[in-house]
Amino acid sequence: MTAIKIENLGRIFSTTTGTIRRTRKDITALENINLVVEPGELFGLLGPNGAGKTTLTRILSTVLLPSSGRAEVLGMDVVRDTKKLRPRIGMVFGGERGLYWRLSGRDNIQYFADLYLVPPEVSRKRIPELLDLVGLTERADERVEGYSRGMKQKLHIARGLVNDPDVLFLDEPTIGLDPIAARELRAVILEMNKRGKTIFLTSHYMYEVDELCQRVAVVNKGKIALIDTPSAFKTMVADLEVVEIECREVSPEALARLRAHPRVASVTMENHEGAQSLQIQSPGGVESIPEFVRILEGSQVQKVITRQPTLEDAYVKLLGREALNS
Ligand SMILES: Nc1ncnc2c1ncn2[C@@H]1O[C@H](COP(=O)(O)OP(=O)(O)O)[C@@H](O)[C@H]1O
Ligand SMILES: [Mg+2]
Repeated sequence: MTAIKIENLGRIFSTTTGTIRRTRKDITALENINLVVEPGELFGLLGPNGAGKTTLTRILSTVLLPSSGRAEVLGMDVVRDTKKLRPRIGMVFGGERGLYWRLSGRDNIQYFADLYLVPPEVSRKRIPELLDLVGLTERADERVEGYSRGMKQKLHIARGLVNDPDVLFLDEPTIGLDPIAARELRAVILEMNKRGKTIFLTSHYMYEVDELCQRVAVVNKGKIALIDTPSAFKTMVADLEVVEIECREVSPEALARLRAHPRVASVTMENHEGAQSLQIQSPGGVESIPEFVRILEGSQVQKVITRQPTLEDAYVKLLGREALNS
């Protein structure tokens, strides 16, 4: 049996705009999605804001109806078999909602254990284990209102596991966390997967998916653009070395000449505090460095480095730069 099976799934949202002359507008959030996730997989759904990640996660976790097509989780239909399916899945939508601030972390999990009808003799053992898994044991009896964002997110995950689900849905679990908290959380996610949970995770962080997931689907504007392993995804750009040049006052002419250079596949530019960082994707980039620097004459080149392409470069190649900034 597959863990998740999605067939020709679509979702349209109808909204109305305007106050005087109201016009109806349909937004296609998902279109013809096909996807299979195997039991035990840690699967990543990667895509920019508005791509449809949350919509898909909500449909799979039975809290939103699809407009077309179908989906099964653990062999059960997400529309018809919700009653049977819900006890077998966990979902973490993160953020500040869904926790009781005046209760302790431990009491929050107890509350959800009761809600899920977990037998007391089971929850008595499971709750300390979950607190331990997410690293909250020492702070478990403090009120949640005093928790940091990272701690709340860990508590969300413990809550999502309270019914010992077979499949766990995590929607952008590390969003808004500081780097250390995010890293701790990623370790928890890997540990859960090691313990046999199928995990369906959404993210718009390339490195996160690269680090965690066995396979990744890239979704953009409601459609799947690619499904593969992170390393295969990176292979798409393996022939492209990336030359990073830090400089000041790059002229539009120099930038245009760089882009027109026969050995340059793409150039992206970021501005920070008056300095520019140019990311030049170029086959055989190292040999071309002297030429690139010559083109940038007058732009005060401060630093030049070369690096291997990352998943982010593959993403830019696949979806274009706009997808990163949205
Ligand atoms: N309840 C809703 N009503 C109308 N449009 C929605 C609703 N939820 C999501 N959308 C739209 O569907 C698209 C996908 O949204 P979402 O699934 O939240 O994307 P993501 O999680 O990848 O950022 C967006 O265009 C969004 O505006
Ligand atoms: Mg979302």
